[in-house]
Amino acid sequence: EKGNYRHFMQKEIFEQPIVVAQTLRSYLRGVERTVGLPQMDFDLSAVKRVTIVACGTSFYAGMVAKYWFEQFARVPVDIDVASEFRYRDPVLEDGGLALFISQSGETADTLAALRHAKKAGQKIAVVVNVPTSTMAREADLLLPTHAGPEIGVASTKAFSCQLAVLAALAAHLAVVKGRLTRAEEEEIVEHLTQAPAALNAALDHDEEIAAMAPLIAPARDVLYLGRGPDYPLALEGALKLKEISYIHAEGYAAGEMKHGPIALIDENVPVIVIAPSGPLFEKTVSNMQETQARGGKIVLISDAEGLAEAGDNCLATIEMPKVHPLIAPLVYAVPVQLLAYHVAVAKGTDVDQPRNLAKSVTVE
Ligand code: M6R
Repeated sequence: EKGNYRHFMQKEIFEQPIVVAQTLRSYLRGVERTVGLPQMDFDLSAVKRVTIVACGTSFYAGMVAKYWFEQFARVPVDIDVASEFRYRDPVLEDGGLALFISQSGETADTLAALRHAKKAGQKIAVVVNVPTSTMAREADLLLPTHAGPEIGVASTKAFSCQLAVLAALAAHLAVVKGRLTRAEEEEIVEHLTQAPAALNAALDHDEEIAAMAPLIAPARDVLYLGRGPDYPLALEGALKLKEISYIHAEGYAAGEMKHGPIALIDENVPVIVIAPSGPLFEKTVSNMQETQARGGKIVLISDAEGLAEAGDNCLATIEMPKVHPLIAPLVYAVPVQLLAYHVAVAKGTDVDQPRNLAKSVTVE
C-alpha cells in the first residue's frame, strides 16, 4: 500500500531511515560496539581476493564496496557486471570470495555468474533482499538486507540497505584482517549507527529538490560527476534519471571530464556534482569549474563546508549533513533519488512502471 504517498518509489525513498536502521541492527552489536556477521563455514580472514558481481543498481552498490574493501581491509577486489563476468573466463584463484549483490536474488545473469564462481571453487557470499530467493539458497554466506518488499522498478531502499550491509562487511573484513583496532571498529559502529539520522536530514530537502525539478526536466542530456566512492553514485544518479524520466544521462568519474565528455557541455546540459568535503573535494571542484567555464549549469550536492567553498555560481545547491566517508554514499543517494523522482513527476512519466523495464530480470 502506498499510504499517503503518490508513488511506491516515493514511499520507498522515505522508508530508508527505518529500513537501513533495521538492516544495520542485524550487523551491529550495540552493547559490545562491534560488527557481527552471520555464522559461516569458512575463514574470512583467509580470503585473498573478493570478486563482486551484480547488475544495474546492485552493481553500483558493489562498486562503492570495492573502494571500501580496498581502503579499509586492504583486500584486492575485482568487479564485473554479471552479463560480462562468465564470458571473459575470469581467473578465480583458490582462497577467493565471490560476492553477489541482488535485490531480488533471482536476476538471471547474476545467478548464472554465482553458479560459475561456485564451480570454480570460490566461496559464495550474497547480499539479497529476498531471503527465500534462489541466490540466498545457493550461498555459503547469506547477508540479508531488510528493506522489505521493493515495488518501484527503480531501486532505492534496496540500494541503501545494500550499502549498509557492505559497509558492515568492509568493517568486519578489516577487523579480521587486523587492519582496524578495537577503538577504530567502535568508531565505525558509531558512525554507522548515525546513518539513519543522516538519511532523515537528507530527506528534509525533498521540497527544495521538487522545486528544482522544473530546471532539469526540459534537458535532453544530464551529466553526473563524482570521485572515489561517489563516482558509482554518479552512475547510479544517471541510471535513476534515465530509467524513470527518459532523459539521457551519463555518470562520469569527475577527472574523466576533460578526456572527452566536456565536449558535450553547453548551457543546456545540467551537470550534477556529487562531492562531500574531504580529501577529493578540491579535485572535483576544479573539474566542476572547467565545466562552468564552458557554460555548464551545475547542481552541487555537498555539505556546508563544501558549499561555502564552491557553492557560488551554481544553478542550485543541495546541502547534506557532514558525515563519515563510510556513510556518505548512503546519504548522498537520497538527493540523487529525489531529483530523479521529481523530474519524472514533472515530466508526467509512469514512475513506478517505467516503459520497457521489469522489476526482476529473469532472462539473460
Ligand atoms: O534484483 P537485482 O538487484 O539483481 O536487479 C538488478 C537490476 O536489474 C536492478 O538494479 C535495475 O538496474 C533497477 N531497475 C535499477 O533501478
